[in-house]
Amino acid sequence: MREIVIRHASPEDAAQIFDVRTTTWLSTYPNQRLGITIDLIRERFRDRKVGIAKQRSYLENQDHTHTWVATDDGVVVGFIVASIADGKQQILAAYVLPEYQGGGIGSRLMETALEWIGPGTVEVHVAAYNQQAIDYYAKFRFELIGELEEDLIELPGGKVIPEVLMRREQPV
Ligand SMILES: CC(C)(COP(=O)(O)OP(=O)(O)OC[C@H]1O[C@@H](n2cnc3c(N)ncnc32)[C@H](O)[C@@H]1OP(=O)(O)O)[C@@H](O)C(=O)NCCC(=O)NCCS
Repeated sequence: MREIVIRHASPEDAAQIFDVRTTTWLSTYPNQRLGITIDLIRERFRDRKVGIAKQRSYLENQDHTHTWVATDDGVVVGFIVASIADGKQQILAAYVLPEYQGGGIGSRLMETALEWIGPGTVEVHVAAYNQQAIDYYAKFRFELIGELEEDLIELPGGKVIPEVLMRREQPV
């Protein structure tokens, strides 16, 4: 691994962010017990062209959100998305390519996002069976609040990924 650089994402990063998200979803979310198959995840990301266009438009309209990427020799290997909207502060996504996980990149991304958000309450939704991510957020003092009953991610065919809410309080 060369030197990892963290920088603001631009619309030109849309394709690489889409690909990092797809690869990481495929390695993270399949779950035999819940019937969440790799094919269901593949289906969600099937239309790469549309997915990249959506990602690009998202990056072009970042009034309330902010995205940072981690790059290795200019290639995107991870990203994080934070949001401040309607008085609510959230981490909306944090993904690092499987071969780069466990090397501190996620922590650097989180430190960058939390610094931008500033003090106050920050929330995140995490797949209930994703212990690695729960540990990651716990490292940054997010506490498990409970199961989410709404806003669940729906996969093609209607199956949902069960999620929990985690919350972090930082006094102003
Ligand atoms: C969660 C994720 C973003 C963390 O990024 P990372 O670069 O792996 O994180 P770091 O190396 O900085 O490690 C931070 C903490 O994450 C947890 N973690 C990271 N890799 C782990 C692994 N292989 N197993 C268990 N916990 C792990 C640990 O708590 C770790 O803290 P520690 O180093 O003090 O033990 C990354 O592992 C990832 O993309 N995972 C799959 C996708 C995902 O779950 N995203 C979150 C969606 S809500």
